[in-house]
Amino acid sequence: MSRIAVIGTGYVGLTTGACFAHIGHDVVCADIDADKVARLQRGEIPILEPGLDELVLNAVADGKLSFVVGAAEAAKDCEFAYLCVPTPQDDDGSADLSYVETAARQIAPVLPTGAVVVNKSTVPVGSTFVVERAMNRPDVKVVSNPEFLREGSAVHDFLHPDRVVIGTEDRDTAVKVASLFLGLTAPVIVTDPASAETIKYAANSFLATKLSFVNAMATVCEAVGANINDVVLGMGTDPRIGEKFLKPGPGWGGSCFPKDTRAMVKIAEDAGYDFEMLRGVINANELQFDLVADKVEAMCGGDLAGVKVAVWGLTFKANTDDLRESPSLEVINRLIERRAEVLAYDPAIHADLDNVSVSDSAYTAVEGADIVVLLTEWDEFRWLDMAKVADLMTTPRIYDTRNVIDVPAARRAGFEICSLGRA
Ligand code: UGA
Repeated sequence: MSRIAVIGTGYVGLTTGACFAHIGHDVVCADIDADKVARLQRGEIPILEPGLDELVLNAVADGKLSFVVGAAEAAKDCEFAYLCVPTPQDDDGSADLSYVETAARQIAPVLPTGAVVVNKSTVPVGSTFVVERAMNRPDVKVVSNPEFLREGSAVHDFLHPDRVVIGTEDRDTAVKVASLFLGLTAPVIVTDPASAETIKYAANSFLATKLSFVNAMATVCEAVGANINDVVLGMGTDPRIGEKFLKPGPGWGGSCFPKDTRAMVKIAEDAGYDFEMLRGVINANELQFDLVADKVEAMCGGDLAGVKVAVWGLTFKANTDDLRESPSLEVINRLIERRAEVLAYDPAIHADLDNVSVSDSAYTAVEGADIVVLLTEWDEFRWLDMAKVADLMTTPRIYDTRNVIDVPAARRAGFEICSLGRA
């Protein structure tokens, strides 16, 4: 078992640290935010991530996981230092590497000889060398090991990976890093750092492409009188296409796809290639937000001024409390621009947002509403008493952008219902 320092306790770092501790390693997680570290030391988990609380509490109780302030404090005795710090977006779409470089410079003086620095933050091609340069420690190897963790199922994804990608030219170092995952059944792909870094962007860009395609197909389905659910079923049963990641929705969002697709476009542009197709994928996603707002407007007679819109779902997907680049917020902004009055409900959001009041239940959110727009696929919305919802509304109307509401049941309850991608 190895001694691992994890730098950064966001959802990637915390999940990585807790899961490594769970499979037997000795892990110290570091953050620059002293308050956050104090909360973690008290056993308070700052993010909603199923299964993570239990993993952290158990690992701490077993003495396998601890939290400290400052990267150097964590890295001083480690064999592996995982960099899991943010790579926010610069104005031009490129990834800002300053957190990665700062962390590298902080740990460089204290890392034991022979330690391996592993970059898990999503970084542009060539960043492994940026870290090497920032550290200036020829006795320390730097490798890339991109993460493929979905928020909301990050613990599951870590413990049941589809693959582990390790980017290094040095075979011995690759074997060392691969050995950290012993016990997890997954193919290990060892490649050079540039390819490992590219795999991450390529995977996210391709998944976003799949979603923009399916959302465009949903629009076509509505226009030609087809049903996107059946179309997706018919497509997805072809194993070359696959049934996963084909659910239409109000657009894709979150902390990864929007940032990574824009970064991919920029990386390609800097390398002299205009990635027109991926720009199209991003534009199609922006258009999707507009189309959702258009549909709501059309359902309400073509004018949203003064119309009371209840929104179900604020987070960028279910089972997370993350609002970053949430399609729901994009749609809400467009509804407000068209002078609708919006009241929202989300199972994970309990305070008002800047421009939207947040209700404490799906039922109170719809009181007096002219339409409900379902924007995030929380399970709770499947099991609501739709007759009660209809009674509370001024006009029982619903636009379901995630295809979770049972259409015949809603109609029986008196609803006018439209589901995205269905005529
Ligand atoms: C994504 C990738 O799926 C992970 O593999 C990757 O590691 C992660 O980014 C990252 O780069 O860190 P995540 O952002 O957590 O994970 O969310 P996804 O589950 O991929 O969903 C992204 C967006 O696509 C959400 O808005 C979601 O609602 C939407 N989506 C997803 C659909 O509209 N339909 C689907 O079938 C799937």
